[in-house]
Amino acid sequence: MNRLLEWLDDRTGYRNLLNETLYEPIPGGARWRYVWGSTLVFTFVIQMITGICLWAAYSPSVQTAWESVFYIQHEMYLGSVVRGMHHYAAQVMIVLLALHLMQVIIDGAYRAPREINFWLGLILMQIILGLSLTGYLLPWDQKGYYATQVTTKIVGSAPVVGQELQNLVQGGSEYGHHTLTRFFAMHAGLLPALLIFFLVVHIYVFRRHGITVKNPNRGPSSDFWPDQVLRDSVACLGVLAVVMGLAIFKGAALSGPADPSEAYSAARPEWYFMFLFRFLRFEMVEHFGQAFGAIYVPGAVMLLIALMPIIALVRGGHRFNVIFAWSLMGVIVGLTVLSLIEDVRDVEHQAALAEADRDALRAVELASGPNRIPIEGAGKLLREDPFTQGPRIFAKHCAACHRYDGHNGRGRMVMTADDDTGIERPTLPTAADLGNFGDRQWWRRILTDYRNLMQPLENAGYDVESSIEYGMISWFEESVEVLTAEANQADVDAMVEYLVAQSGRPGLELNAELMERGEEILSTGSLTEGEISTCDDCHSEIGGEFELGTDNVGIPELNGYASYTWLKAFIDNPGTEQFYGENNCMPAFADKLSSSDMDLLVRWMIGDYAATEVKPYNSKVELLQIEIDDSSGNEVANADEQPAADSE
Ligand code: HEC
Ligand code: HEC
Repeated sequence: MNRLLEWLDDRTGYRNLLNETLYEPIPGGARWRYVWGSTLVFTFVIQMITGICLWAAYSPSVQTAWESVFYIQHEMYLGSVVRGMHHYAAQVMIVLLALHLMQVIIDGAYRAPREINFWLGLILMQIILGLSLTGYLLPWDQKGYYATQVTTKIVGSAPVVGQELQNLVQGGSEYGHHTLTRFFAMHAGLLPALLIFFLVVHIYVFRRHGITVKNPNRGPSSDFWPDQVLRDSVACLGVLAVVMGLAIFKGAALSGPADPSEAYSAARPEWYFMFLFRFLRFEMVEHFGQAFGAIYVPGAVMLLIALMPIIALVRGGHRFNVIFAWSLMGVIVGLTVLSLIEDVRDVEHQAALAEADRDALRAVELASGPNRIPIEGAGKLLREDPFTQGPRIFAKHCAACHRYDGHNGRGRMVMTADDDTGIERPTLPTAADLGNFGDRQWWRRILTDYRNLMQPLENAGYDVESSIEYGMISWFEESVEVLTAEANQADVDAMVEYLVAQSGRPGLELNAELMERGEEILSTGSLTEGEISTCDDCHSEIGGEFELGTDNVGIPELNGYASYTWLKAFIDNPGTEQFYGENNCMPAFADKLSSSDMDLLVRWMIGDYAATEVKPYNSKVELLQIEIDDSSGNEVANADEQPAADSE
């Protein structure tokens, strides 16, 4: 063994090198405060290793980026840990960078003869920030896609060359395939190469002058090995523990696949850029324009930091530098905390975040489902998913009048600002809540609670008293006593079972015995106690198939009620004689919705989509009811100001 090492040393001279590296004297002894540089190198090594592992599975293209990250995160062996480590080590690196910089400034380590190395350090810092920025886009998920656009727009606002520079990094005037490949080339090629180069020079120059020691007489001097190496190793292990812990227990997020057509208001940069994001939103900063806030001011601050070695030549210069550094840190931390608090309090942002989380979960759910990811990419999964798109179409086209469990379909209450005070209040619905449309609950309410179910129509000026002479209300007022009688509840269950069967919805489990009993009651009108007039007194007979255009009475057809074809025909044109005829107050949507949107909406409403673990939005029915009760007090005064139901 010895002879082998002898031979190796003879050929390479490694012992000399090792001696020089390890036995570097440290005046005043090893100290914890010198560990930051080593931990930074260590995290960079983590990034190299995990980065290459990720590279081995990542595929940068618009159709494959999210898909390959999905694979890494959810299918690859240890993939989520590797990705999590890469994700969190990047953030830890920023924190260490800040600590390292502060330590250098406070200790005055930037002073002659170490100015060059200080500047090298600042260059390294820019490269690391560049790595973070470019990495954020690579999963090509909604979050990265929209947050990175903020950054590239900032690049575009730079003077003179801004536009060209933006086009260069984006690979064109719009985001697309080239944006991804260019960012990847920067992230995995150019920037790491620069980083390694500058890091080698940085460490070389550092070794030339050694550690800056404030007080060499603090204790006995020691060598780099083993005292400082021990401290450095412990610190590195600490970093590793933090990174692993976060990777395993928290994991890196992956939001839904990037979709240029789906504006994403929950987009935020990584937390360490939040201060800049917040700074840009100050009215005064906005007034001077984006280039001022995002380029000139940060540029001036960077310049000032770069000038520190020169400023320190003046008397009191070092003290100025230290105070400036602390203040800068204070401002950054303050702005970060401020923007985080503002986000937590921002109801709109929280709602957007909640929706983004749902989309993320749903995308993963569909991608892991039996159909996997289509060849066109994962974006298609959400775009063609009724569960994802239905609520959006509902919110856009239906929530002006209807509600869904009290909200607009997307979990938010419909609000209007008061004309006088400007205070936002929940808007009263002018048509029924469709949260339960067509299911058993809906039918139970038609039979036993029709008036309350349709109460919102009154908000639109529908006059119950004058319509009580005919129609559903008159039937209801006549029958309600019988239908709510204790002894008849089993009968009502039976009727509900028969009626709900008309929809033939997917996943509906029916009780045949109950259905038979229900059919009997509905055809004779006699219940255990008392009787009601049968539905076909007014509606056409129940029990057949729904066929478009077969019934001409202007009273809603009950055959196939709430089935796919019924609902689609109804929304297409509720004013035909098959539905509400001339009494109709709902707009026809045949020309307003594309056929694919119509399909998604109806399939969502009847529950025809892949099963999901995503929780439904919290019901807002009770909140809305409070508002309705409140306003019924001054209903009379407002009666003629109610909006007409058929105006959109
Ligand atoms: C301008 C208000 C308005 C809009 C917008 C509207 N509706 Fe309606 N809708 C009504 C009214 C009023 C009724 C009650 C029946 C009637 O008058 O036609 C109704 C009835 C319904 C019904 C039958 C159940 C019931 O409550 O009687 C369904 C289902 C329905 N609408 C679905 C939709 C869907 C889906 C959309 C969006 C694509 C939509 N509506 C948009 C006003 C509206
Ligand atoms: C006296 C005539 C009459 C009888 C009897 C009657 N209905 Fe109706 N029904 C109507 C009319 C008219 C409407 C349209 C709403 C209105 O103008 O009140 C309607 C509306 C409905 C609707 C709402 C359709 C929608 O989606 O908007 C349902 C559901 C319904 N009826 C079910 C029934 C059932 C079930 C029975 C029997 C148990 C029944 N109706 C008995 C006249 C009647």
